[in-house]
Amino acid sequence: MEKQQLILGIESSCDETAASVVRNGNEVLSNVVATQIEVHKKFGGVVPEVASRHHVEAITAVIDEAMAQAGVTFSDLDGIAVCKGPGLVGALIVGLQAAKAISFAHGIPLVPIHHIAGHIYANALVAEMDFPLIALVVSGGHTELILMKDHFEFEYLGRTLDDAVGEAYDKVARILDVGYPGGPIIDKMAREGEDTYHLPRIWLDRHAFDFSFSGLKSAVINLSHNATQRGEEIHPANLAASFQASVVEVLTEKTMKALEKYQVKNLVIAGGVAANSGLRTSLTEAGAARGINVSVPTLNYCTDNAAMIAAAGSVALKKGLTSDLLVDAKPNLKL
Ligand code: KG4
Ligand code: ZN
Repeated sequence: MEKQQLILGIESSCDETAASVVRNGNEVLSNVVATQIEVHKKFGGVVPEVASRHHVEAITAVIDEAMAQAGVTFSDLDGIAVCKGPGLVGALIVGLQAAKAISFAHGIPLVPIHHIAGHIYANALVAEMDFPLIALVVSGGHTELILMKDHFEFEYLGRTLDDAVGEAYDKVARILDVGYPGGPIIDKMAREGEDTYHLPRIWLDRHAFDFSFSGLKSAVINLSHNATQRGEEIHPANLAASFQASVVEVLTEKTMKALEKYQVKNLVIAGGVAANSGLRTSLTEAGAARGINVSVPTLNYCTDNAAMIAAAGSVALKKGLTSDLLVDAKPNLKL
């Protein structure tokens, strides 16, 4: 029998301290996530300095818990995969230092992973990835269409020219004063409302695969301000539904066009906004109508977690993408 491969994944790029043990690239033996959402809620967003401190407090316990739940010891591991960027530098350093310490003490290869590669490889936990594929990456910091002809070959087809889609969700939630993080709340409200406001769809005709969400965000702000000035009530659920309808239509159309242009039959969706119910349904239906195989991670692997880092690390280790202990956290790391 082939030897089993065990990877410890560590993720600390933003406001989740996470560790996970994954066997053979797709069997999640443990997936521990300590979220700081409650801490940052009162500020309406992530405060970097506060995030770093909480990572320091949580990291050892989170790693110990992931190892205990998986029933393995450090000497059983074949590799330690850790997110090295992009993200908040102080937050990234905490996970990276923990990974380096374990790597050094136990002589285990260190496998640095790009956060977005991690999000994309969350799909490997659902089914084997079939190349060539196009990845639609939608998170709090990223909105990108990426062509992958093989493992760890990333070719950008387009990206947002301004706000990331998750960021737009969080801002709209702030305008409507409905809580943080906004994505899941707006998603839920959208399901209870209707697209009555008919907000703009930003197509950027000269940039077929790029995105822009700041105009849509401004449209929501203006609509809300004008209503206040006129003493009129807005219908929050309908505004949420209208916002979501615009986002989903643009993301779906552009993704389908990219699949067509590059003659690709496999689509993977990645990042926190991949948890969005409207987007999941729309892409799955549009894909099915065109014979496209659409992969969506299960909900708990859409937002930040370490199982996705370990899944990416499993492939990266096989490809020899390891690093020495001098590797640095890179807040603006390119894929
Ligand atoms: O991938 P992620 O956990 O962190 C980053 O790498 O940015 O993504 C977080 C983003 C947040 O903006 C959050 O509001 C959004 O994902 N999000 C959603 C949903 N769940 C999370 N956006 C829309 N609908 C959702 N259901
Ligand atoms: Zn993320």
